[in-house]
Amino acid sequence: MRIYERFDKTSENTEKQRAYYIPYESLEKALEGKKENSAYYKLLNGLWNFKYFERDIDVPDTIDSWDTIDVPSCWQTKGYEKPYYTNVNYPYPVDAPFVPDENPCGVYERTFFLDDKWIKRKTYIVFEGVSSCLFLYVNGKYVGFSQGSHNQAEFNITQYCINGENTITVKVLKWCVGSYLEDQDFFRYSGIFRDVYLLSREENHIKDVYIKADTKSITVSQKNYEIYDGNVKVENLDNPVLWNAENPHLYTVVVKGDTEYIPFYVGMRDVKISDKGELLINGTPVILKGVNHHDTHPVNGWTMTNDELIIDLILMKELNINTVRCSHYPPTPEFLNMCDRLGFYVIDEADLETHGYVSRMRGYREYDVDDPIWPCQNPDFKDMFLERMVKMVERDKNHPCIIMWSTGNESGYGVNQDYMIDYARKRDDTRLIHCEDATRKGDNHNVDVLSGMYIELDKIKEYGEKGLSRPYFLCEYSHAMGNGPGDVGDYMDLFTKYPNLIGGCIWEWADHTVIENGISKYGGDFGELTDDGNFCCDGLVFADRSFKAGSLNAKYSYQYFNSCLSGNKIKIENRYDFTNLNEFTIEIELNVDGVSVQKVNKNICLEPHCSTEIDIPFNIPKECKYGAYININLISSENKLVAKKQHKLETQLKSFKPSSLAVNISDDKYNYYISSKNHQYTFSKLYGCIESIIKNGKEQLAEKAKLTVWRAPTDNDRKVKSEWGLVNRDNLAGENMNRLFSKVYSCELNGNKITVTGSLAGVARLPFFRYTAEYEFFESGEVKISLNGKMRESLNTFLPRLGFEFKISSQNKEFTYYGMGKEENYCDMNRHTRIGLYHSSAENEYVNYIVPQEHGNHTKAKFLEMDNSLKFFTDGEFEFNVSDYSAEALTDAMHTDELTKNGYTNIRIDYKVSGIGSNSCGPRISEKYQLKDDVTNFEFYII
Ligand code: GAL
Ligand code: MG
Repeated sequence: MRIYERFDKTSENTEKQRAYYIPYESLEKALEGKKENSAYYKLLNGLWNFKYFERDIDVPDTIDSWDTIDVPSCWQTKGYEKPYYTNVNYPYPVDAPFVPDENPCGVYERTFFLDDKWIKRKTYIVFEGVSSCLFLYVNGKYVGFSQGSHNQAEFNITQYCINGENTITVKVLKWCVGSYLEDQDFFRYSGIFRDVYLLSREENHIKDVYIKADTKSITVSQKNYEIYDGNVKVENLDNPVLWNAENPHLYTVVVKGDTEYIPFYVGMRDVKISDKGELLINGTPVILKGVNHHDTHPVNGWTMTNDELIIDLILMKELNINTVRCSHYPPTPEFLNMCDRLGFYVIDEADLETHGYVSRMRGYREYDVDDPIWPCQNPDFKDMFLERMVKMVERDKNHPCIIMWSTGNESGYGVNQDYMIDYARKRDDTRLIHCEDATRKGDNHNVDVLSGMYIELDKIKEYGEKGLSRPYFLCEYSHAMGNGPGDVGDYMDLFTKYPNLIGGCIWEWADHTVIENGISKYGGDFGELTDDGNFCCDGLVFADRSFKAGSLNAKYSYQYFNSCLSGNKIKIENRYDFTNLNEFTIEIELNVDGVSVQKVNKNICLEPHCSTEIDIPFNIPKECKYGAYININLISSENKLVAKKQHKLETQLKSFKPSSLAVNISDDKYNYYISSKNHQYTFSKLYGCIESIIKNGKEQLAEKAKLTVWRAPTDNDRKVKSEWGLVNRDNLAGENMNRLFSKVYSCELNGNKITVTGSLAGVARLPFFRYTAEYEFFESGEVKISLNGKMRESLNTFLPRLGFEFKISSQNKEFTYYGMGKEENYCDMNRHTRIGLYHSSAENEYVNYIVPQEHGNHTKAKFLEMDNSLKFFTDGEFEFNVSDYSAEALTDAMHTDELTKNGYTNIRIDYKVSGIGSNSCGPRISEKYQLKDDVTNFEFYII
């Protein structure tokens, strides 16, 4: 048995885990807190010698020819091995503690220089993250080994070091027994992927430091320390400034050794649960508006620079996110420093996931944790479980941002988590304990919050209604894969309403992908033995961290501001927990027919969780063309839009009155020919639809204007798409709407009106929609299309969408519309948009989802006018979409480079489009967003 396949020996000669800190040589430097300026800190990042071996057995005693590699980095991102994405399945057989005999090994080597000053003191080396385990040698001598990829490993190397140049060698294995506890859903990477540094310490140096702070005092495990507020020494803490995510005030505690000054950033706060089950921060109930954060970079894999991490957090702030769950392992300590400083509530999670045990047998996917093979209850794994909790709690215990300890993810629940929980509780009584596995098993005796993932809205609501005093936390919800998620707002409504629903974390922050030649790749693109396709591309933001509609919709749903109209008043609600609304400017605008008519700025002093009423500061028009709205923006002192609302005003709309009926209509066997002043229409008798529109002497249509239902499935349509008919091999599964037959039963002319009766059906199925469509032609060129129809009663699915498709020349790409914009929006994902007058183009509507899919929809439109071509308008509403791509092309392409334009501008004028939801992993989309209603009133005009 190899040492790295032993349950009972996961490390050798490592230091006992202590709190994270950096010692400095002076008080000034400690207060400045820039570790690169500390004389006692030497970062070993940079170019190292490197040699990759496919089998660790092949590593020779001496290596003569080296490659070089960046430290930190993942070797798969540097050309050694291909990336490998698997979610639940282990990438090797489930046979703990054994790993494949061909175990790749990366050998790293570099030199470092120690001078007199360092050599007189003790020298330690710290590895912040190495996957999966490391063997350390200094000047050719074995020092020790360690595993736990996202845990810190520290070695005392004093006795191995010499004055002058020293050589450090690190052998990193791809797999070890610890890999069984690291079956998280991500690309599997190897190497020294986080910082490595040396610390110089005084002879009898301080080891651990434990600082506990609450709202009244700060308790420090060391005697010799001082407290600073900025650079000012604090003599008493009688009126402390408390820490919270909105105002993250930090004191600096400097612990002093003989020659060392060690700063800690301390936030005074407490975390409690009220008897209503609320989460209280300093006594104030807060909602966790969270997101799950993985370290992920489209080029560098798990390796993220501090600058990149801080950008993540700044962007989260921009999206009104206040909570981060570190899924599913502790982050680099710097990330926690940033969260302390910027203000986030953090759920710190142990580096532990054994999900692959659910799929250890063919055709099986169960948390059958009574089987003794499960690590969560297997005594062999006990110490390994415990070690991962100890390492996290001990390293991170001084961070005010952390409000919960999590035992890990998807590992089943057993006695081994209880050991972890007991340890955390005994060591730290200031934070809550989270173990989603316990709630899944229905055994919550040892946890503080109930926790779930992707629980249906109804079930969450039921829990809220029961009013239990145990908080419920959704550690994952609103799976943000592809176009979506559509349901954050509906969850937030429940979190806002029920005290014991303390919020949740959207899954997840950013898409995981590997960009090759500009194209985003995912599982299956690298010849993995088992893979999960694009299931890793499920970020609320794209891999480059740019926002999508789902990001903005979440921002709106998480915003700390609400308003509503009542009579001639606007009710304004401050939903911040700790911030007065007077820190913001409230811009109020009267918008009529898309034009900003009047604007007023207000500054309102309003305490957190309070509301007030103000008069509507405008005269509301009695009548207008498309609509009148009050738009409200909340603007921060940095001039950023942090929240917005739109309120519809009750005004009379002028409806469209078409000109007299006189049109010329002739026909032959195939068609009706209709001509008015500037328009000639050809209407197909066989197909029951408009075949040609000549406007001002120019043909507008490239194809018949058909009634269709297909949309390119989104990632969130992953499950329902087989009901719709995408699955070809199972020829019983779907309604086959993508192989559509459009039947015309009759097509009759009466005066200026053609009436069509028809149906839509998938091949081999009963018609699913039967309809009557009327086309009424007017002298001034308009044609009014009315659709009435019924869904088949036995249709036990819903339609992707329903409406008319127009293909026009690709010359005509630009357009103006009045409707929800400017970003794409769907009936359940449109909170981030506003009704208004916008200009756009087909290119501009394109959204670069990693797997091409439906995108670019606009709801609640009154008109769409294609520049120099057709105009569509209605007295009611329609949804529309303008694209360079056909639904079929978007359906077929699996990567963006496989997507081809069909040479037209593709327009959809839809009765409705089904919502987006988050069913890629979350529950089925709510009924109210499914299109399955009878159509009774769909009307629009074309000219
Ligand atoms: C959850 C899991 C996450 C991720 C997600 C799907 O069940 O905890 O790690 O796999 O599903 O994207
Ligand atoms: Mg998993």
